[in-house]
Amino acid sequence: MSAHSKLYEGKAKIIYSTEEPEILLADFKDDATAFNAQKRGNITGKGIINCIISCKLFQQLESLGIKTHYIDSPKPNQMRVKAVKIVPIEIVVRNIAAGSLCQQTGLPLGTELKQPLVEFYYKNDQLGDPLLTRDRIRLLELATPEQVDEITHLALQINNFLIDFFQRCGITLVDFKLEFGLDSQQQILLADEISPDTCRLWDISAANDPDRRVLDKDRFRRDMGNVENAYQEVLNRVLKAVENN
Ligand code: C5P
Repeated sequence: MSAHSKLYEGKAKIIYSTEEPEILLADFKDDATAFNAQKRGNITGKGIINCIISCKLFQQLESLGIKTHYIDSPKPNQMRVKAVKIVPIEIVVRNIAAGSLCQQTGLPLGTELKQPLVEFYYKNDQLGDPLLTRDRIRLLELATPEQVDEITHLALQINNFLIDFFQRCGITLVDFKLEFGLDSQQQILLADEISPDTCRLWDISAANDPDRRVLDKDRFRRDMGNVENAYQEVLNRVLKAVENN
């Protein structure tokens, strides 16, 4: 494998090899997709914004002892990461009902959940990322029960940090998606990204306005307009919160 050859192109990132076999380069794209890539578009500046936000959040999580794939950021839209084998499970943590939870359970949008809900989805575009159970994870051998326990514990720890961090940004963390990977020592590392693409973020100052409060990819999914402004607003607040830390 030669350095800087393209290893994988996903919906939001391209992964390149580097001179070092254990290190990869993730290049964040402006391309946006929704509804399992049935809707496609472009959010100007998204690659840079999502990369910077993810780098800042991974740095904060590392300082709390949560291991991530983050190494550093050679360019604003690039993250050097530790090579991992991605566990093909998308972990969604929800604090407030929105999106597919409302569609599938009938809970009204905005219902505060008494405790965080951790869900697992099969990372499989062909199947449309279906909801998994622990037994299905075991059946498909996607992860061991011990790995599922560890990932769940980490996801809840990350949720606690993110709720508090975004609160300091004047933002309510509604829900978000995480991905984990295994390094060469079979250690579980937080991978992928944490950004307005992967979180639902509601502006506290517009809490009662269902349109204005949305500062995340739902603006793109639901053609709400002002997508770039919302992403930029999240970045500005994240940078301020990190500065004031
Ligand atoms: O669509 P749903 O309500 O299940 O999404 C829950 C959360 O997970 C949202 O914050 C959404 O942005 C995120 N998500 C994601 N990638 C997916 C599916 C969901 O980032 N493939």
